[in-house]
Amino acid sequence: MAKQEDTFKKVISHAKEYGFIFPSSEIYDGLSAVYDYAQNGVELKKNIREYWWKAMVQLHENIVGIDAAIFMHPTTWKASGHVDAFSDPLIDNKDSKKRYRADVLIEDYCAKIEKKIDKEVKKAEKRFGDAFNKEEFLNTNPRVLGYQEKINAILKRMGQSLEKEDLADVKALIEELGIVCPVSGSKNWTDVKQFNLMFGTKLGADAASSTELYLRPETAQGIFVNFANVQKTGRMKIPFGIAQAGKAFRNEIVARQFIFRMREFEQMEMQFFVKPGTEMEWYNKWKEERLNWHKSLGLGEDKYRFHDHDKLAHYANAAADIEFKFPFGFKELEGIHSRTDFDLKAHEEFSGKKLQFFDHETNTNYVPYVVETSVGLDRLFLAIFSTALQDETLEDGSTRTVLKIPSILAPTKIAVFPLLKKDGLPEKAKEIVADLKYDFMVAYDEKDAVGRRYRRQDALGTPFCVTLDHQTLEDNTVTIRNRDTMQQERVAISEIAAIVNEAISFKKWINK
Ligand code: GAP
Repeated sequence: MAKQEDTFKKVISHAKEYGFIFPSSEIYDGLSAVYDYAQNGVELKKNIREYWWKAMVQLHENIVGIDAAIFMHPTTWKASGHVDAFSDPLIDNKDSKKRYRADVLIEDYCAKIEKKIDKEVKKAEKRFGDAFNKEEFLNTNPRVLGYQEKINAILKRMGQSLEKEDLADVKALIEELGIVCPVSGSKNWTDVKQFNLMFGTKLGADAASSTELYLRPETAQGIFVNFANVQKTGRMKIPFGIAQAGKAFRNEIVARQFIFRMREFEQMEMQFFVKPGTEMEWYNKWKEERLNWHKSLGLGEDKYRFHDHDKLAHYANAAADIEFKFPFGFKELEGIHSRTDFDLKAHEEFSGKKLQFFDHETNTNYVPYVVETSVGLDRLFLAIFSTALQDETLEDGSTRTVLKIPSILAPTKIAVFPLLKKDGLPEKAKEIVADLKYDFMVAYDEKDAVGRRYRRQDALGTPFCVTLDHQTLEDNTVTIRNRDTMQQERVAISEIAAIVNEAISFKKWINK
């Protein structure tokens, strides 16, 4: 546990120290669970968004993108069910006066049991060495099976109680499990109550005529209300998708774990409109496609797992999370939801407008079903950044901190160094920068010894460093150093762009 916490602290401090993420309005002591992306963070975030956008919109001829406004007509949220049902079950500890999400308290309890399973696995791994078969062990060891059964039973009961809105049973479960407040250590709990997560604001100048608005809690509704506009103007035929990346806002009660759970965050969502009855086929297809998309980034196959939901949102008939192994354990990274025709039907009802598709083959109109993929951009940033941050001990015993961000996502692709600050080397280096900057984010650095400059770029995740020396002036060659292997190669200046382009080719990455 202590190691996990240390790793996570390091992630947060590295993100700040190297200009990736700052606490919001820090000069006023910050704002809880709100963060600003700094000069390097904004590049990484933009590159992640683009990697998603290209995979969704550019590679699928039947998916188009939109950018809907954050403000929407307030009836949108009545129709979508968010006014009535977008809430979290909260519980207060009477001694510490701290407020918690009841489901998170229970999930944290289960995570502790899961750690016991991990411990058993580690012990057995040591005992059996190479002969150890993890899968078999997990499926047969009585102690592990006992723990797993307990987790399943707890989560099942919680899911059912939440679905039935039986909040008294959620409290009873917390009491039966003996869950204590992490601050006061007491079991003195209030009843569990629902709390709406939408932020309200007002449109208009005077109090009497102003309209109550909400900041959108998901980007999806901007897609639903534009369904007919896009379908007609884009001449889209079912099945087709509409993708969108943009800000969403939630008044999260338990906002914690850095950018994992924020009050203002960014979602990348795609609503895929399908013929009723085919939704399960598409749901499974999108589950697989999204998992493959994540895996293409090369963070490690074992970092992902599916979690199929017992408790379904008010709009879904099937739902799964792609979970990622964050420094604090496996947590939701992306949701894939079969949303039925709930949203389009509700908007039809509340707006009085038809949101249907005319099928020329059968000469019938129908309200399409929807399969949604929804990933948090900030969460994805955290997944990539925390996995990429590594401390390495080198062959000579020295250490380095390196950010092994997939090169296609790296904020800066090339750093150019003149070996010395004289003899015309800086001028020549600046010529190279001036040429490369049209195609790549390029940094120039002439300060300190070249070894220190390499370390600085390693910590920023720059995949290539180009160094000029006196030979460069004679034959127009440089050394190019690879961040991950630290190998240096002598190449012609004219070859740099091709080497970098090869390493950051979208086609290569996405087809991995
Ligand atoms: N339209 C469906 C929807 O919004 P969700 O599971 O509530 O579903 C989708 O959210 C994704 O958005 C999550 O998997 C997560 O990555 C991200 N997300 C949700 N709440 C977040 C928060 N408070 N901070 C950061 N990311 C969040």
